[in-house]
Amino acid sequence: MEMPKRTPRGQRLVLVPCPYQGHINPMLQLGKFLHSKGFSITIVHTHFNSPSPSNHPEFIFLPIPDGLTVPLVSSGNIIAILLALNANCKSSFLQCLTTQVMKQEPEKKITCIIYDEFMYFSEPVANHLNIPSIILRTTSAANFLARTTVVDLHSKGLIPFPDSELLNPVPQLHPIRFKDLPISPFDTFENFLKVVVNAHDVRTSSAIICNTTDCLDQSSLARIQQHCQVPIFSIGPLHKIATAASSSFLEEDTSCIEWLDKQSHKSVIYVSLGSVASIGEKELAEMAWGLANSKQPFLWVIRPGSVIGSDWTELLPQGFREAIGERGFIVKWAPQREVLAHGAVGGFWTHCGWNSTLESISEGVPMICKPCFSDQKVHARYISRVWRIGLELEDEFERGEIERAVRKLMMNSDGEEIRMRAKDMKEKIQVSMSKGGSNYNFLNELVEFIMAF
Ligand code: UDX
Repeated sequence: MEMPKRTPRGQRLVLVPCPYQGHINPMLQLGKFLHSKGFSITIVHTHFNSPSPSNHPEFIFLPIPDGLTVPLVSSGNIIAILLALNANCKSSFLQCLTTQVMKQEPEKKITCIIYDEFMYFSEPVANHLNIPSIILRTTSAANFLARTTVVDLHSKGLIPFPDSELLNPVPQLHPIRFKDLPISPFDTFENFLKVVVNAHDVRTSSAIICNTTDCLDQSSLARIQQHCQVPIFSIGPLHKIATAASSSFLEEDTSCIEWLDKQSHKSVIYVSLGSVASIGEKELAEMAWGLANSKQPFLWVIRPGSVIGSDWTELLPQGFREAIGERGFIVKWAPQREVLAHGAVGGFWTHCGWNSTLESISEGVPMICKPCFSDQKVHARYISRVWRIGLELEDEFERGEIERAVRKLMMNSDGEEIRMRAKDMKEKIQVSMSKGGSNYNFLNELVEFIMAF
């Protein structure tokens, strides 16, 4: 990517990631890109889910106390954890930054704070210290609009909605139905609303960076920009703009790449439900037999603890291992970006987290969508109904439906159009990243914008 005319000469940026895998990854990828443009990067992070500094020697890492208790962390209640982080981290962040500001050399001043939208405690601290701030939104613009709609429906007294509405389309939000609205299952609706309203509030921040692109999200981005007073830089997919080292919390099992090397071109279905979602024993059995009966080779990530009631694969059904033999490979955590870029991978059964969605689209890999919660349901609808580069498993996990979906996606002629569209979408993204494309232009504009502070 071509450099803008001026260079930042060590201007220092502070990045505040939200401590979940799907949020840390894009923030560190953004940091890597900005570092490649000459900015010096400091990552201020919580103790909870802290990133590994040794993987990123180019950044300075500063931990701040987060005050999270062991029972709260082990509850897995993301909404309660986000509320606690925002209540607890404001003073520790202020203290941390004040110390940094006091000892900074004039030519290496902190010129901007870039914070994840869910780490909104950062804004009043930035404002207090007179440092400009920018928000990073790590999910799609379509999901942002859907969350805004949830807030609007609530203000009109239309939430909770009756079950009879579930399959009805949400006005102005095609193709989202009421059942697809991104309402968090983790806490009360009131607490969810508190997090969303705070995360959406731009306050005094100067701009918004979105990990999305016009090719995918143009109409949603345009609608958001209409009501937004500050510029929006849609510069995604972030993992494609700078090759950042892995920021995985779990160790990546690279032996799966050797296994993939032995498989035929586009024959493997890669299966992963991301870093948070979990399933029960019954769903596990349906997944297992659906994959086995499809007769297609598969690489399956079963994250330790993601099957309720077991540590790892203990609850896989009897006879399954014998039935699949060498045709299936199971790992605890995969180098996902490398997997999706591998020539042997021809499909991705995904939970539709936004990073996974972008990573799949960027490699032209069509998807089977089984969303679990929140934004995943919005993305599943876009993948299957708007971009039409995947199939959605609509109901409970059911082995027959899974088997049919894998065959259709990977080999049957009625899946050919989906596979072609996925390939076309990859090309569109590549065009938007090349000179003169929208992603390319936004990136250069963003660098200029930050340098002007
Ligand atoms: C969470 C929410 O579930 C999701 O809805 C939201 O969009 C982001 O936060 P998560 O489950 O972490 O998402 O999924 P996703 O956004 O897809 O991020 C997962 C990341 O982990 C991806 O970057 C993926 O490449 C990586 N990953 C996943 C691996 O590196 N190895 C794996 O085995 C699985």
